[in-house]
Amino acid sequence: MVNNQQPEIQEHYLDRDCTTLSRHVLQQLQSFSPEAQDLSAIMNRLALAGKLISRRLSRAGLVENALGFTGEVNVQGESVKKMDVFANDVFISVFKQSGLVCRLASEEMEKPYYIPENCPVGRYTLLYDPIDGSSNVDINLNVGSIFSIRQQEGDDTDGEAKDLLQNGHKQIAAGYILYGPTTVLVYSMGHGVHSFILDPSLGEFILAQENIQVPHHGPVYSANEGNYWQWDESIREYIRYMHRHEGYTARYSGALVGDFHRILLQGGVFVYPGTVKKPEGKLRLLYESAPLAFLIEQAGGRASTGTQPILDVVPEELHTRTPLAIGSTEDVQLVESFIADWIRRKTDNEAIAK
Ligand code: AHG
Ligand code: MN
Ligand code: MN
Repeated sequence: MVNNQQPEIQEHYLDRDCTTLSRHVLQQLQSFSPEAQDLSAIMNRLALAGKLISRRLSRAGLVENALGFTGEVNVQGESVKKMDVFANDVFISVFKQSGLVCRLASEEMEKPYYIPENCPVGRYTLLYDPIDGSSNVDINLNVGSIFSIRQQEGDDTDGEAKDLLQNGHKQIAAGYILYGPTTVLVYSMGHGVHSFILDPSLGEFILAQENIQVPHHGPVYSANEGNYWQWDESIREYIRYMHRHEGYTARYSGALVGDFHRILLQGGVFVYPGTVKKPEGKLRLLYESAPLAFLIEQAGGRASTGTQPILDVVPEELHTRTPLAIGSTEDVQLVESFIADWIRRKTDNEAIAK
């Protein structure tokens, strides 16, 4: 006996399985223009980078030279892991001879990497954090890659890439790849936020969720409370508020991408404020905070330094860091309110003391 609904169900699954990333990008841009084709091709290369890194991670304990440190320290002053180097090189390799991307700027490289053969045609720059949460690599926990695409402005003849020192509204697209139990790619081109899951049997990222909206409020707060002693009083007051009120729960994985993904889907807030050792916090504007801010705003959420929208921040240099509060609008506003209140009290006290 044939089920009447079967052909429809089959068609539904076939349709879903055929909604690959590159097809989705073209649908999003509603165009087959050369620019749309370029962006679709860039996303396709990013997907390839994701697959290569995912494959390496899935066998990391079995292959030589995948785990542990290189012994080097990067431009951020952080110890470099072998996986950081591998993933950084993967992004460079996938864009070589592509005609798509002229420059790549990464958290792991002091200066932008130029691919001169692409420059006459490829007017785009890729900014990326090749492995986010690299302390998780050696213990088989989730890590991610974050990316952002900007259009090159001017000729950059001096090779200083000064046009990258602009605010986050200049991003054309942003996203991340989360290497968890499944590999998930989340992206936005300014038309909503969409997620894709890597189907290993097809080797393709298949559409999982379209137009993701972050809940207006969620129970999770994500902060490294080990830094309590290093925080400003405003953040301490905020955290004490979370401890004393019902309805909140703490989650912190050591990988921003993982914590962000949870918040994107379930609501809440991720907070990495300034510390005594790092007054601007740890997270890098161009490779971490701005791309995720682009995504969260597209999903109806909020991203802030505590006093200013992340997307409005103009970096002083490529590796500028910013404090970050990102997630559900209501929960980010709560963090901001503690900071504003503390600034107000401090100003009042200073006025009285005069
Ligand atoms: P990266 O691995 O790219 O250096 O980034 C690590 C970041 C971020 O992923 C994470 O949320 C945060 O650093 C963790 O820092 P702490 O260990 O200071 O909490
Ligand atoms: Mn990172
Ligand atoms: Mn990193």
